[in-house]
Amino acid sequence: MNVQERPGNISPGIPECDCHQPALYQYIKKGIMALSLEYTNQISDSGRQMLIGLHLGNGYGSQPGAWRMPGVDPKSYVSFDSRVKQAQAAERGKFQFLFLPDGPGAIMADIATESPNFNLDVMMTLAAVARETAYIGLVATGSTTFNEPFNLARQFKALDIMSHGRAGWNAVTSSGDDVAANYGVRIPSSQDRYGRAHETIELVQALWGSWGKDAWIHDQQTGLFARKDQIIPINLQGKFVGSRGPLYIPPSEQGQPIIFHAGGSPNAHELAGRFANAVIGSSFTIDDARAQRNAFREAAKRYGRNPDEIKYIPGLMTTIAKDRRTALNRRIQLTEHLFPQRIAYLQQMLGISLGDKHIDEPLSKTDLSVARPSRYDPRSSYALKIAKEGWSLRDILAHGVIDYHPVIVGPGVEAANHMQTWFEAEAADGFWISPDVYADGIDAFVDEVVPVLQERGLFHRDYAGKTLRNHLGVPDQYGIDPRVSNGQNTRHNLTWHS
Ligand SMILES: Cc1cc2nc3c(=O)[nH]c(=O)nc-3n(C[C@H](O)[C@H](O)[C@H](O)COP(=O)(O)O)c2cc1C
Repeated sequence: MNVQERPGNISPGIPECDCHQPALYQYIKKGIMALSLEYTNQISDSGRQMLIGLHLGNGYGSQPGAWRMPGVDPKSYVSFDSRVKQAQAAERGKFQFLFLPDGPGAIMADIATESPNFNLDVMMTLAAVARETAYIGLVATGSTTFNEPFNLARQFKALDIMSHGRAGWNAVTSSGDDVAANYGVRIPSSQDRYGRAHETIELVQALWGSWGKDAWIHDQQTGLFARKDQIIPINLQGKFVGSRGPLYIPPSEQGQPIIFHAGGSPNAHELAGRFANAVIGSSFTIDDARAQRNAFREAAKRYGRNPDEIKYIPGLMTTIAKDRRTALNRRIQLTEHLFPQRIAYLQQMLGISLGDKHIDEPLSKTDLSVARPSRYDPRSSYALKIAKEGWSLRDILAHGVIDYHPVIVGPGVEAANHMQTWFEAEAADGFWISPDVYADGIDAFVDEVVPVLQERGLFHRDYAGKTLRNHLGVPDQYGIDPRVSNGQNTRHNLTWHS
């Protein structure tokens, strides 16, 4: 069969890129943090259930002081055993997936006092985890800018085989010259990064599909190892990447890994809308999350896909304890060393001077009457709301008003309420959870939040299958999805050749 006649392998294209997108954390700072903590005890009317992923980073937790907390092994940064234990804790809670971010590589600006943010190597970490878990999905970030497609294809497919169909690839374009410097280059333009990303994902999917579904026979009696006519080169060449193929790895139990994406720009919407089944997001308000979710769903429609095929999953940071006071004290223990610089920043968020204020006292009525939330930081309104509740300056900061995602500091039911409110507002299809300290924060979520969600019918009680596609309700896939290669809104850059 000619490669051009193979199902799924139809001339692909690269959508036009909007080249004027801001960098990573500008997306993270969109929207206003407004947590709804009202208790609602209703079962989801639609029967729709949420997804939950665990952010697995440097081995300690999402808060800066996590590595120094009592009970934490200070060597967790290099301990694969600790990652396995953390993954097993999430699997006990029936989380659908682990999410491992990557630069690639780590930023070491605070190395004198803080651990770098990332895993030593995301693929090796997940290989270790794959051998010691049986259900949980394994999603690693892999840069489309700093990797060759053939390397990505074989590493993720090998992980998919090793885990019996649980691998996911968070395909990102990477941002930041500090990352690029590790490769001796500057960050390419947005147009080039996204042009290469479209080509790379398509090429990787083509390589994953270069074995027919039933090509691998391994029949010892007949001596037929594989059907040669079902394993054929892909012969793809684009402006940025190319490969002859074929890949030498057969399909896994789910066919091939699932594509995730992380980003919030129009370019991200287009890339994810075309290829992804899940988006790792960042939103501070229901309105922003809903707008993001809709943008990804609309992009999916442009490629002839059902919008329900793409799940929007914003982040949530947690400090779970038996009551608010205990949780605030824990956050104080973790991050108090940062409070002087955070007070300086809080001044800007509220538009008032806090230099002479006592950290153990609430803001005065006069201060509160003139305070205005900054329009430059989406977290400011939430910070002002907490201040108006009468908390001390120390406790305002302990509420996590300056962090990368909405933060729950309190009993498990408050996290469950937040998740239910966002989920039922169609602002999220699930959440990726960043516990403050992994050593006990994952267990706290599993024991205090998961049962509440299950009781309300919002989260599954057990895994229905063993692959990541099962967990996300995504059909098995072999090669390129023909719908996304044939879109009306594409121009052809990647071409087949013999
Ligand atoms: C929630 C979230 C998580 C992200 N995680 C990563 C990551 O682990 N590694 C990475 O290189 N980029 C990550 N990114 C950055 C994106 O890949 C992208 O480079 C960034 O959003 C800038 O987008 P732009 O290239 O469209 O300007 C993340 C972005 C968001 C919003």
